[in-house]
Amino acid sequence: MRVSPFENCGAVVSDFQLATMTDIELTELRSAFTEHGLLFFRDQQLPPEEHLRFARRFGTIVVNKFFKTTEEHPEIAEVRKEKTQQTNIGSGWHTDHSYDYEPALGSILVARTLPATGGNTHFANLAAAYDALPETLKKRIENLRAVHSNTHLYGENGLYRMTDLADQLGGMDRVGDATHPVVIRHPQSGRKVLYVNPGHTIQFEGWEFAESRELLDELYGHVSQPQFTCSFNWQPGSVTFWDNRCTWHMADNDYQGQMRLMHRITLAGTALAAA
Ligand code: SIN
Repeated sequence: MRVSPFENCGAVVSDFQLATMTDIELTELRSAFTEHGLLFFRDQQLPPEEHLRFARRFGTIVVNKFFKTTEEHPEIAEVRKEKTQQTNIGSGWHTDHSYDYEPALGSILVARTLPATGGNTHFANLAAAYDALPETLKKRIENLRAVHSNTHLYGENGLYRMTDLADQLGGMDRVGDATHPVVIRHPQSGRKVLYVNPGHTIQFEGWEFAESRELLDELYGHVSQPQFTCSFNWQPGSVTFWDNRCTWHMADNDYQGQMRLMHRITLAGTALAAA
């Protein structure tokens, strides 16, 4: 197995097949995942059964509350955009499941049907972004907690409900919020990480909305700078495995008239502690 750093975040794992990984390779993969928080794989033979087997070897699966799943495998969520649809899932920066009290550890995304061009996924490195914050800003956020929600997306009148993705979404009654520290100690790496994201973080606990918005926008502007982000170009056989506690991601919607289908398995995490 070879692990090579990729652009400004993550690493490419090569000379390796997820489906036939040995226990020793699994240990190496865990270390690489802790170190980089984002792993890319090419040329994988990973049918849905092997996708599930890899996920179960790495952790415990948690099923997304809103996405459709495949008919055969209710633990595999579909990130689907039909040729006729205009809207895609996840086109803005976000972190999966941060609205849960125990946010997801990570997500394993497998390319199934790709557009001829476009449909890249961008990622941001939240540990590097935290390290590079000015000391004054680190001081300002050190004891804050933030509210993370999904109601504005999946609730009644939520943003996704207003789009042509609405028919694909279930569970309007499953919406909810959770609060987390703004600076967390990553459970495995021990690094300090900035844990807010544009998709789900709506305000700081105990702050006015407008006042929260101003500081959140400053933090979001910092994280989305090119030195903390990268873009992954999918090919048949590509797989990406990201740590939701220390990355953001977003999917380009630049392939109108073409279909894109990805299979996503999300792994359960734990409650997050302040740094
Ligand atoms: C997601 O937000 O999990 C989907 C990312 C993608 O489709 O590239």
